[in-house]
Amino acid sequence: MKITIMANEMQFDRAAAMRIISEMLAKPNSVISLATGNTTQNMYKIITEEYINAPWDTSELRVFNVDEVMNVPRTPGKYCYSKIWDSFAKPIGIPESNVLMPDPLGDWVEECKKTELMLKEVGGIDLQILGIGENGHIGFNQPGTKFSQKVWVCPLLEEAETRILSGLESKPIGGVAGFTLGITDIMRARRIILMAKGSHKAQIIRQAVLGPISEDVPVSVLQLHPNCEVLLDASAAALLN
Ligand code: GLP
Repeated sequence: MKITIMANEMQFDRAAAMRIISEMLAKPNSVISLATGNTTQNMYKIITEEYINAPWDTSELRVFNVDEVMNVPRTPGKYCYSKIWDSFAKPIGIPESNVLMPDPLGDWVEECKKTELMLKEVGGIDLQILGIGENGHIGFNQPGTKFSQKVWVCPLLEEAETRILSGLESKPIGGVAGFTLGITDIMRARRIILMAKGSHKAQIIRQAVLGPISEDVPVSVLQLHPNCEVLLDASAAALLN
């Protein structure tokens, strides 16, 4: 693993944005799989600003996202597709047909199969961006997930489920769940960048980088990846000596 530590949050956000921009410039038909969440929010803003200043060809990029909330409609500003579309793909001109994310109202088994097929058709992921949960989850793969797991729909953490349900007018039949690339799909990416900022991530980053490789800490599997960078701000890196 290559560890990069940026001095502060602002530099972290810029470094994160520059990595995606340079991937897009180096390979205009790249397959990039993204992540949503607080960690990557500013990164998308910076990419968009750079694109507006000096646009580049984005017509051939293919975009996945590591996860999605299932059984909720695509509402602007909410959940993964809308976040990726509104704050990244649309402002930088990526065709809608190249945003290859599951239909959150589709059949769960079919959506997993479709994604696996699409991953094959595009020749795999060139760059996988990941955030990290404080318990070590990547995507929606929670502690205990098998390293052999492929794309699946899994239960959400209670806290996430409560938060999502509280934002809905009525509880969807069948409840909500998390669609996620499995550990196997993530590990097949040719390059991975795990991104974390803030002191609340320091403990799990220490475990991710220095701890034993175990299914109890899904992120620890990244130690086995041949081309993985861990991009941190100083706060998230505080417990790495
Ligand atoms: C969430 C998502 C992940 C995300 C991670 C970190 O649960 N399922 O895809 O990357 O946790 O989120 P944040 O950046 O807000 O800390």
